[in-house]
Amino acid sequence: MKKLMAANWKMYKTAEEGFELVQGILAALKDKLPVDREVLICPPFTALNAARKALGASSGAFFLGGQNFYPAKEGAFTGEIAPSMLLEHGCTFALVGHSERRHVLGEKDDFLAEKVKFGLKSGLKIILCVGEKKEQRLAGEVEAVLDQQLRAGLVFNDYNDSDCLAIAYEPVWAIGTGLVAEAKDILEAHAHIRKRLKEILGDAKGSETRILYGGSVKPENTKGIIELDNVDGVLVGGASLQVESFVKIVTA
Ligand code: PGA
Repeated sequence: MKKLMAANWKMYKTAEEGFELVQGILAALKDKLPVDREVLICPPFTALNAARKALGASSGAFFLGGQNFYPAKEGAFTGEIAPSMLLEHGCTFALVGHSERRHVLGEKDDFLAEKVKFGLKSGLKIILCVGEKKEQRLAGEVEAVLDQQLRAGLVFNDYNDSDCLAIAYEPVWAIGTGLVAEAKDILEAHAHIRKRLKEILGDAKGSETRILYGGSVKPENTKGIIELDNVDGVLVGGASLQVESFVKIVTA
């Protein structure tokens, strides 16, 4: 299983800046991308085309992804974007249920389940993000929160390729705060997610589904995280916005 090193640019980078960033990443990784790694870049929608142009005919190890979409083919959904539009702009992947969508924009589990289902049906690979808030960790509710988010998010378990789905474990309190979960906490959470995935998806698919860690991933902590059991990649926000730090993470 290749490790997926994913960049989530959030609402940063114009098209021009995105073009330069992708060009810089490609140049710095030329002949240096480890064979067991894949790189995913999730720019804002307006920078997708520029990022795609910059990727050009780069090797099959680089992918583009959308940060969000609406679960419908088309329709009167002001401000939203359809999976077919992401696919048209070169996206292979899309994030669903990032904590900022859950907690800032108020997206609920049943809506996220629709997105997982519709996104997969449309041909996107989906990264479903899960993770507890600080108060839930302090109350000993980590496993209960993960169970709820996984069971609800994967309720329409009707896809057949484990390569189409990944989970990102992102403790909310570690996102953008500089606080990284300790190795022990990551190990426990990922082992728990693995166990649940096997139950929900069956042994084979559950074992092969990638589980990424996200939350203040930086060049200096990546190696320690990526080598942990059941960590099959990382989802990086802040440190993915500069060539140097992202390239160090990808090659850590
Ligand atoms: P961060 O963000 O790396 O800036 O903590 C991670 C994420 O939100 O996916």
